Amino acid sequence: MTMGKPLPHDSAPLHVTGQARYADDVPLPAGALHLAFGLSSCAHGTITGMDLAAVRAAPGVVAVFSAEDWPKGFGEMPDCSPSVLDEPLLAVGRVHYIGQPVFLVVADSHLAARKAARLGRVAYDELPALLTVDDALAANSRFEQGPVIWAKGDAAGAIARAPHVLEGTFEVGGQEHFYLEGQVALALPAEDGGVNVISSTQHPTEIQHKVAHALHLPMSAVRVETRRMGGGFGGKESQGNALAIACALAARATGRPCKMRYDRDDDMMITGKRHDLRIRYRVGHDAEGRISGIEFTHLFRCGWSQDLSLPVADRAMLHADNCYHLPDIRIESHRLKTNTQSATAYRGFGGPQGIVGIERVIDHVAHATGREPLEVRLLNFYRSNGTGGPGSGTRFGGPHSPANSQPQTTPFHMEMEDFIGHELVAELEKTSNYLARKAEIAAWNSTNPILKRGIALVPVKFGISFTLTWLNQAGALVHVYQDGSVMLNHGGTEMGQGLNQKVAQVVADVFGLEAAAVKITATDTAKVPNTSATAASSGSDLNGMAARAAAETIRGRMADFIADKHQTKAASVRFEAGLVKLAGEHYAFAQVAAWAYQARISLSSTGYYATPKITWDRVKGRGRPFLYFAYGAAVTEVVLDTLTGENRMLRVDILHDTGTSLNPALDIGQVEGAFVQGAGWLTTEELVWNGKGGLTTHAPSTYKIPACSDRPPVFNVALWGKPNREDTVGKSKAVGEPPFNLGISALMALSDAVAACGDGSAYVALDAPATAERVLMAVRRQQGNV
Ligand code: MTE
Ligand code: MOS
Repeated sequence: MTMGKPLPHDSAPLHVTGQARYADDVPLPAGALHLAFGLSSCAHGTITGMDLAAVRAAPGVVAVFSAEDWPKGFGEMPDCSPSVLDEPLLAVGRVHYIGQPVFLVVADSHLAARKAARLGRVAYDELPALLTVDDALAANSRFEQGPVIWAKGDAAGAIARAPHVLEGTFEVGGQEHFYLEGQVALALPAEDGGVNVISSTQHPTEIQHKVAHALHLPMSAVRVETRRMGGGFGGKESQGNALAIACALAARATGRPCKMRYDRDDDMMITGKRHDLRIRYRVGHDAEGRISGIEFTHLFRCGWSQDLSLPVADRAMLHADNCYHLPDIRIESHRLKTNTQSATAYRGFGGPQGIVGIERVIDHVAHATGREPLEVRLLNFYRSNGTGGPGSGTRFGGPHSPANSQPQTTPFHMEMEDFIGHELVAELEKTSNYLARKAEIAAWNSTNPILKRGIALVPVKFGISFTLTWLNQAGALVHVYQDGSVMLNHGGTEMGQGLNQKVAQVVADVFGLEAAAVKITATDTAKVPNTSATAASSGSDLNGMAARAAAETIRGRMADFIADKHQTKAASVRFEAGLVKLAGEHYAFAQVAAWAYQARISLSSTGYYATPKITWDRVKGRGRPFLYFAYGAAVTEVVLDTLTGENRMLRVDILHDTGTSLNPALDIGQVEGAFVQGAGWLTTEELVWNGKGGLTTHAPSTYKIPACSDRPPVFNVALWGKPNREDTVGKSKAVGEPPFNLGISALMALSDAVAACGDGSAYVALDAPATAERVLMAVRRQQGNV
């Protein structure tokens, strides 16, 4: 078995020696041209004039395009949107944010194109710009008629009847993707007007579709290839469309290969980020902290175009419960349109915004009731179904469903079948020693006036499947060559997460080979069609199953053939350790492949998979949008300097559920990376726009992502390891996004440390990101020195 082995990432040696080839490393054919966009300097306005003479005259410039100067043969200005055709490639008549592409420069070098793009003079008639949630609310500027509302039970009634009621407002910042490899595309003109595109994208089929549309070609005339990305994190689901379309059009206009790569500052100015939002809550609870009714209002700042904002905001609603059974709940979600970058997918796809809301509420309720936050969390947990081991009998007394009790349902009316929170949290409490450390920290804080420590345990439940049901499908193509070597293609893309290695392990197992015997190739729309984005953490679930199906078809043919030769049953043929075994005989896999080829047996097959069981009615907010949930919990301890607000993580303990891991080494890497990225979102990563709508934090000098030195010195990550109860590939669970939410424990630990700064009577109410400044202000509030 190679499934389950902690093999290194298949490209690890290439990554660390600089040999891994990214889109920008592909050698360019002679005559290749380079592109750059000229960007809007106005957040909202009408374009009154454009003087691009200096751009055209600049050294190396071959062509310049704008809406005013658009080749007739090109037809209408092409659209880059993944949803509702509201994103012209170049601004037409009006600009909607600072950073919007207004004109396109084609030049003979990257530098020449960028330099020339600076020389454009564009005049605007400024219009009022809606920059904030408040601006958008006041102007009723939104992407839908009104807010989306999902409800279960009677939240208002339950709150009215509750002995205690709390309300609050919580501001949560956005997040720049900061993939190390920026956006890049390369278009090579092909015969017959077709085009081949190399793109750093999570969604080659979307690039194919949008390029075909822009060039008025059938999709069959456009081929898109993605070998790997240097990180995507959701920022390459839709944000690569503009570059690919621009390159394809320029390639058609000039007949030459065209490449575009955003400089880091341009990348941050142009592309969308994680949605920031304001969360309002009103919650009814009892003296112990048991929540009865709860109302959430999500105010999402979506930016100028719709992009993926509606499904992102939906997923936030679908995660507003996290691990808690909320019998009476109402969630109201506003998708606000503003004159800023168009917010987009980012690891968790809205889920983290939903989860951080309820975790904030729990923290607040714990303060109001004077109870240990972990007790309040456990009190409100869903019941276990007893599938994950003993839950009752732990010191938290996690209750199992009595055999005859009604199943509990989520706010979207899905029955909770697989909850393992009690068991998992009990285990983590034990290994992290959370309660004992909490007491020790309290004692330490009482004798330390300047430094304060804090600790928090946060659980996570994350739904797995695309909420747009039809996206839950995948295809694969497997070839066995006559020498017994295997080539694997699937529809997923590699962005560092190790998808290719996992799928190769699945295929290798089908043939009884080592993983290294399976050659992994670039994702290619000509090999596997109609793929979904590699997103929603579903890459290995979907593509692993499709690849397994393809490999099993070929193995079945090989088994039939060799069994027939030996006049025995195919069912008795086994593929193990590089051998094909039957009836006392064994042959090398390569030998059987060669014989099968000579016997004219097809050694190539496609495979296909569609996720079972899911149904979802988004208008009603009802159904089973997810095949299953992935769980996890984290304990984070921090220390803060109350004189400066500076702080750091001291120790992190994580227990995360990946089902039966396909590859524990890769999964632990995903958990570590996701946790750090999640903690960065809520602590140091701050996006700041000036009063005119210009993003002032558009480089690493002003935007602070966690560095290696910000890792906690003690970082214990363990996998839960019990099989998925659903029939997923190898009984594994998706891992890409769920552990991102564990970073919430860093925010809650900071909140705990700040709480230790005063007499404890006021709730800390720390907004995110909890930068050093914000922490310092919260400390001052606690100390009563406002
Ligand atoms: N890990 C690395 N190293 N780089 C990435 O860009 N993207 C994340 C996650 N892990 C990402 C990553 C996101 S947003 C998703 S949806 C999943 O990987 C996608 O891959 P998967 O479905 O194969 O897990
Ligand atoms: Mo991930 S945000 O679903 O690409």
